[in-house]
Formats: sequence, C-alpha cells, structure tokens
Amino acid sequence: MKVAVVGATGLVGTKMLQVLEQRNFPVTELIPVASEKSIGKEVVFKGKAYKVVGFADAIAAKPDVALFSAGGSTSLQLAPQFAAAGITVIDNSSAWRMDATKKLVVPEVNGSVLTAEDKIIANPNCSTIQMVLVLKPLHDKYRIKRVVVSTYQSVTGTGVKAVNQLMNEREGKEGEMAYKYPIDLNVIPQIDVFLENGYTKEEMKMVNETKKIIGDDSIRVTATTVRIPVMGGHSESVNIEFENDFDLNEVRAILAAAPGVVVEDDPANQVYPMPLNAHDKDETFVGRIRRDETQPNTLNCWIVSDNLRKGAATNAVQIAEHLQSVGLL
Ligand SMILES: NC(=O)c1ccc[n+]([C@@H]2O[C@H](COP(=O)([O-])OP(=O)(O)OC[C@H]3O[C@@H](n4cnc5c(N)ncnc54)[C@H](OP(=O)(O)O)[C@@H]3O)[C@@H](O)[C@H]2O)c1
Repeated sequence: MKVAVVGATGLVGTKMLQVLEQRNFPVTELIPVASEKSIGKEVVFKGKAYKVVGFADAIAAKPDVALFSAGGSTSLQLAPQFAAAGITVIDNSSAWRMDATKKLVVPEVNGSVLTAEDKIIANPNCSTIQMVLVLKPLHDKYRIKRVVVSTYQSVTGTGVKAVNQLMNEREGKEGEMAYKYPIDLNVIPQIDVFLENGYTKEEMKMVNETKKIIGDDSIRVTATTVRIPVMGGHSESVNIEFENDFDLNEVRAILAAAPGVVVEDDPANQVYPMPLNAHDKDETFVGRIRRDETQPNTLNCWIVSDNLRKGAATNAVQIAEHLQSVGLL
C-alpha cells in the first residue's frame, strides 16, 4: 500500500511514522510530505531514509491513502485535492470534524459508519477520542444523560513549539513561547481560543464531537480543558450521569471488555492511570472508578491516554487498518 504522510516532519507526523512501523501496516511505498521549507529533508521509516516532497508530487505519486497532520488550513486546502485524485484522506486537524458530509471516526466506537463514498475521514480531537472509548460501552448499557469533564492536557498536544517552551523553561533558557504564560510549574486553564459563550474551542470540540461519534445528540457534555506541564499524555476527570443505575463491578467488567480500554483500578495498591505510564502506548487507561455519592446513577472515573498515539497517530492508522480490513482500501 502506498502511504503519504502529510505533515511528516511534525510531532504527530513523526509519531505516525513510528505507529505505521510498529503496527506493521503494509506500507510498500512511503511518501512524506511537509511544507515548502522542508522539501528535500529526510525522514526515517523502517531504517530507511525518505526525502520529503511537496504536495503536488505526492498527489502525482497516487498514494492509496494520505494521513494528514499539517494543521486545519493546510487540510482545508489540500485534502480535497488528494480526494479528487481518488486518494483516501484521514485527517487529524479540526477542519472537517463537524462537517455534516464527513465521518468522524474512532474505529472501536463507530468504524462501521464508513463506506466507499468517504474520501475525507476526520480523526477526532485527542481529548474526545480517549473519553468516548470509555463512554460508548457504558452508554450502550446505562444510557448517558450528562458528562462533566475536566482535562489535564500534555504540552505535546500543542506541537513541537510547546515542548521546546517547557524544556527551555526547565533549563532556564530564553526561547520562543508557545503559550502566553510560562507552562513549567504552572497550570493554564485555556486550550485553543475563547468563544463568545466563554468556553474555549477545545471545550466545545469535546461537547460536539462526543455527540457526533456516539451518534446521540441527547448526551449533554460540559468541559473545562486545562494545559499542565506533562509530556506523556492527557488525563481527564470524568463525571457521568446515567438514566439507569449501575453496579460498580459490572462497570469495571464492561470497561475491561471494551476494545482499546485497559482498567487500572486498584486503590488499595495505589494503582491508577498516569501519563508517565500511558506514554507511547496505544491503549486508553481508566481507573478511580467510583460512585458519585451526591446524586443517583452517577459515576466518577479518571481516563488517561497518550494524545500523540491514540489521540492522533494510532487512531488515524487504525482507521486505515479498518478500511483495509473491510475492503475499502
Ligand atoms: N499534537 C497533538 O496531540 C495533536 C492531536 C491531534 C491532532 N493534532 C493535529 O495535528 C496537526 C499537526 O500537529 P503537530 O502537533 O504535529 O504540529 P507540528 O509539530 O507543528 O507539525 C506540523 C506539520 O505540518 C506541516 N505543514 C505545515 N504547513 C504545511 C503545508 N502547507 N503543506 C504541507 N505540510 C505542512 C509541517 O511541515 P514543516 O516542518 O515543513 O513546517 C509539519 O510537518 C494539527 O492540525 C493538530 O491540530 C495534534
């Protein structure tokens, strides 16, 4: 299979190359694409160096699939050109996620919605992916009414510039700032820009994308998204109110059986998910599973996943794997 990676020099693109290699995706030819300034640079895949090309050369090479992680405006401009050439695009940016004509996919949750007509497929926001993996099996059983989520998000979610800012601050060096404020020894309660309703765009992504992926507009979600000085992955405190009551052991069993989810929940031995342990893993970890004692039918839990893996690269590669397994690629 000929695979183009658009944004191959970026944080997600680099992870995409690693994930393609580690999951042994059947790549027969790799076509790395980046901006003009990177054309001719080399990226390494399976121990071999590949030269970065521009988008026109990539389209001319007719890949079967193009994995995009090059920002929203690049995707708006280039994805339709790839699709028009018959290339299936799996896009990591927010450009197409809420477009009613595009599918928003987490394969374990709604991979079955994909058809041969889907030439541009959207990969959801990282914080949403890890949350819906846990919500969907519980929704199927107990019907979710409302979700209250607060996130603790890694600097890797912002890209290379933010990782550099954190490291520079740790080493006492001056450098380019990805955030308005210092991130080391700090917590920033803003991810993406503010909207008129006082929420940030990241918060509204969690509200809207959750409904679209689970396919139920009645689920009410309210979110507070926060950047913290960690690298390994995103963490989320999630409060879920159901229509029906649940049994905690049954909840644990449902989550243990859910694809892509690992239950790490043993308070007696201080076992719970943490970004340090989730780093470079494809699974989503859930723990601190307990009843909210302040109202009926309500559960608290703590969800952690590597935002560059399941939150971005892994989910995109899994969409390609799914398309291949059902003969759509
Ligand atoms: N970081 C995350 O956790 C995460 C999660 C989900 C989704 N995403 C999304 O993935 C995208 C990339 O994020 P990132 O963190 O990897 O950012 P990044 O590290 O800044 O990388 C951006 C990549 O896009 C390339 N690019 C920029 N303009 C381009 C153009 N006109 N044509 C072709 N390539 C172009 C860059 O190439 P040069 O090196 O040549 O500039 C680079 O390879 C964003 O849309 C982001 O929202 C990120």
